Amino acid sequence: MGHIHIQNIGKYYLNNRNMPRSTQDHDVLQGGKIDVLRNIELQLEDGDMTCFLGPSGCGKTTLLRIIAGFEKPTEGRVSINAEPVTQPNANCIFVFQQGGLLPWMTVKENVSLGLRNMAAEEGKESRIKEYLEIVELEDFGDHYPHQLSGGMKKRAELARALVINPGMLIMDEPFTGLDFLTHMKMREEVVNMHEYFKKTTLVVTHDIDDALIMGDRIVIFSERPSTIIFDRKIDFSRPRNFESNPDLNTLRSELFFMLGVPYAV
Ligand SMILES: Nc1ncnc2c1ncn2[C@@H]1O[C@H](COP(=O)(O)OP(=O)(O)O)[C@@H](O)[C@H]1O
Ligand SMILES: [Mg+2]
Repeated sequence: MGHIHIQNIGKYYLNNRNMPRSTQDHDVLQGGKIDVLRNIELQLEDGDMTCFLGPSGCGKTTLLRIIAGFEKPTEGRVSINAEPVTQPNANCIFVFQQGGLLPWMTVKENVSLGLRNMAAEEGKESRIKEYLEIVELEDFGDHYPHQLSGGMKKRAELARALVINPGMLIMDEPFTGLDFLTHMKMREEVVNMHEYFKKTTLVVTHDIDDALIMGDRIVIFSERPSTIIFDRKIDFSRPRNFESNPDLNTLRSELFFMLGVPYAV
């Protein structure tokens, strides 16, 4: 279960010395207040995969962190299944942008981390095995992360998130750093996984094609201070393919236009 209600979320940061200089210089001139999100209003349906698109620095990660309870909004509130979010919640799992596997643990041990509170050793073993099979890493349980390719690491991270059977999954640019083909394969894998488990899933991507291939819904944010400038349910059947679906191509041109690159397609 994972119905997310984002109510009138606003967020600003007061300028902070620890921030990257580039951001500081620009925003100090504007009074040291960084207005990130404004009036964000969204209801995400249980089981949907929603893709967030928007320019770099507009506040996508900030919004994910607020939804996951890692960050407090300045205004408004988020509820998950009608419960206000006040702190991180084990039912809402974050798959980070950069590799989150612990390098000194094997794949199996990494996946078992999510189940550390589970009592029965036997049930635990078979559950880990089941999820390693789902992501096709059953033969790599005893390998260490440095022995895996980029795509395999991402699959292990996915197994670690899914094994907990969370109500929802949050992915922040999950394909960053993968080569082109691995990116395509992982994307297909996430779509299949979503079809299978039907978890409420939030994916931030800067790739319009990712959003079009994956999303049940696409939400686009403006430059900072960020507001929602596009929000649409995408109900093309799957698997989706640009060659055979002219409507998908039309929407693609529309999204490129909206993100400021009208001649890219
Ligand atoms: N902890 C923080 N303190 C101050 N400013 C921050 C902090 N985190 C993010 N920001 C600023 O908020 C803006 C949005 O950041 P972010 O949510 O990471 O954007 P995105 O994920 O869309 O690229 C950026 O300008 C960033 O510098
Ligand atoms: Mg980000």
